[in-house]
Amino acid sequence: MPVLVVVGAQWGDEGKGKVTDLLCEQADLVVRYQGGNNAGHTVENLRGKFALHLVPSGIFNPNIISIIGNGVVIDPTVLRAEIDDLESRNVNTRGLKIAGKAHLIMPWHIMLDHVQEARLGVGKIGTTGRGIGPCYADKAARQGVRIQDIIDPVGFRQKVMATMEAKAEVMAKAYDQDVSSLKEECERYIEAAESLRPYIDDTALLIWNSLREDKRVLLEGAQGTMLDLDHGTYPYVTSSNPVAGYASVGSGIGPIEFSEVWGITKAYTTRVGEGPFPTELSDDTGVCLREVGNEFGTTTGRPRRCGWLDLVALRYAVRINGFTGLCITKLDVLDTLDTIKVCTQYKYKGELLDELPPAQAIFTEVEPVYEELPGWKSDITGTRSVQDLPQEAIDYLNFIVRHVRVPISLISVGPKREEHIKVPHPDYSQRASGGHAGRQQ
Ligand code: GDP
Ligand code: IMO
Ligand code: MG
Repeated sequence: MPVLVVVGAQWGDEGKGKVTDLLCEQADLVVRYQGGNNAGHTVENLRGKFALHLVPSGIFNPNIISIIGNGVVIDPTVLRAEIDDLESRNVNTRGLKIAGKAHLIMPWHIMLDHVQEARLGVGKIGTTGRGIGPCYADKAARQGVRIQDIIDPVGFRQKVMATMEAKAEVMAKAYDQDVSSLKEECERYIEAAESLRPYIDDTALLIWNSLREDKRVLLEGAQGTMLDLDHGTYPYVTSSNPVAGYASVGSGIGPIEFSEVWGITKAYTTRVGEGPFPTELSDDTGVCLREVGNEFGTTTGRPRRCGWLDLVALRYAVRINGFTGLCITKLDVLDTLDTIKVCTQYKYKGELLDELPPAQAIFTEVEPVYEELPGWKSDITGTRSVQDLPQEAIDYLNFIVRHVRVPISLISVGPKREEHIKVPHPDYSQRASGGHAGRQQ
């Protein structure tokens, strides 16, 4: 710190919520900078197990200010319910602040998300159906509703209803939708948005002032690099930019303030929704990873597609985000495997590729080139230091570091807060055979 960005290095669900909750011990402010309630960040700590969708994972630390940044899109009914749920479980949300400039997801966005997916048929994106894409589209088209608009309640209502009528007309005429419930739905959204008014603040100014007072800021990404609108597997992506660069835009902090960028990656790979996934396993090992890793979506409950770790994609994420450290999560999920495969390159029409292919069509057809490493066949959930990890696990971690050239800062060995290993110094692996865990020059 003072400013650490936590970014998903894969296709989301890497364990960003767990890592953020853990790192909050060392932070004063936590900021979500993009995405919406397509995110599902699971936190398991002394207060219980929580699935957060919009509220930053810093909320459990009573000394922290938790900010929903301007880059986030907010469904006010979901945020209202999430705050109420937290309060009912004795989690104090007084430290929550919402950027006035954040855009609101409205009922027509959700309707359009479903309509567009249905029209795409087999070519669908596999969205979460939460209205994310249409909301960001309206933001870019300058037709959005921002939460700060609520400060003028009469004007807000007029704007919402006028926009709703325009959208309803298109939805009914162009998409043959029944729009009769939209007005009533909008009333519900207006009421929820009104109730959030006390949380609205000039959060960029708040962060600026905090940084001048040497406070520490943690920026919590949602989704992951491979779902990034610009840098992911377009069009099978989300509609925001999870990459580190956007943490500046989505929070209102100048990029020069960032001191560290940590990439969160599982020790294997998962993906929810459609789109290319070279290392996907459709065999028993894939089923095993899903069951042992409990790989079912936090937001939609959909089974996650599972596969081996893809170092081509991880190297790409390192480059696009400028990671200064890696957090390897869910290492324990590999505990029972005899051997572990890791993709180091792709093969396309006989040619070896070290980088992601530029064309989506090729990415769908590449074959992963694997190296196979021995498994450790023991329970590492209780391990709290690198030295106590089985040699095979250390070798696996070193293999990753050697290929991506970024040091590992944290290893997660279970879903609970305490189930982790902090790596005090990049060169942690005195016992490693042949590997070098530090950033290679
Ligand atoms: P996020 O969206 O990146 O915050 O990740 P999710 O919460 O959607 O998915 C990660 C899942 O893995 C959650 O159920 C976590 O509780 C769980 N989890 C996180 N870290 C670990 C770990 O090291 N080991 C195991 N077994 N589970 C973990
Ligand atoms: P967290 O923050 C995993 C995926 C959806 C779909 C694509 C587009 O929990 O890691 P959208 O609703 O955003 O338009 O869907 O993106 N997706 C996620 N996958 N984790 C997430 O968030 C995701 N948020 C969106 O499954 O493929
Ligand atoms: Mg998730």
